[in-house]
Amino acid sequence: MFLIISTVWAVIALVLLIVAWWLVRVGRIVLHRNIMILLTVGAWVFIINYIFVQRYGEELGSFPSKYVPWMALHGSLGLVPLIGATCLVVGRLMAGRNKFSTHFNQHHKTYGRTFIVVWFFSHLGGIFNAIFLH
Ligand code: HEM
Repeated sequence: MFLIISTVWAVIALVLLIVAWWLVRVGRIVLHRNIMILLTVGAWVFIINYIFVQRYGEELGSFPSKYVPWMALHGSLGLVPLIGATCLVVGRLMAGRNKFSTHFNQHHKTYGRTFIVVWFFSHLGGIFNAIFLH
């Protein structure tokens, strides 16, 4: 069940990432903002749920040891956009209030482009895991 939900979420998120990027380029800032907040909150829910399933669930079992380096890479890569997007969202929501938000707002485009690309490949990796490694 967890695998099905997470794969469906990954596919939805892949599409929404592209849509949110396109929206901002055509000037639809509010929709861009709302989708990015949704994706960031969704990513946190996914990660927290994943940790609980790994810790308490029995569904996933353990990976063959030869996949451990790949899983470590995939997990580490996934943390980059998770933390990065959170900084961008928090930065925008706290605009003008501190140096942290000023920094992330000044470099929003550069960070945003980087995080969306890494995020995209993290989800592709997740879909690969769900299809081929289980
Ligand atoms: C509260 C949340 C957000 C708001 C209000 C917001 C708003 C904006 C605005 C106004 C722009 C226009 C350019 C600029 O400001 O420099 C922009 C651009 C951009 N944002 Fe966001 N954003 C949010 C979250 C995010 C997040 C979390 C990401 C990615 C992780 C992201 C990725 C991008 C990208 C890639 C662009 C540049 C588009 C391009 O010209 O290529 N944004 N955003």
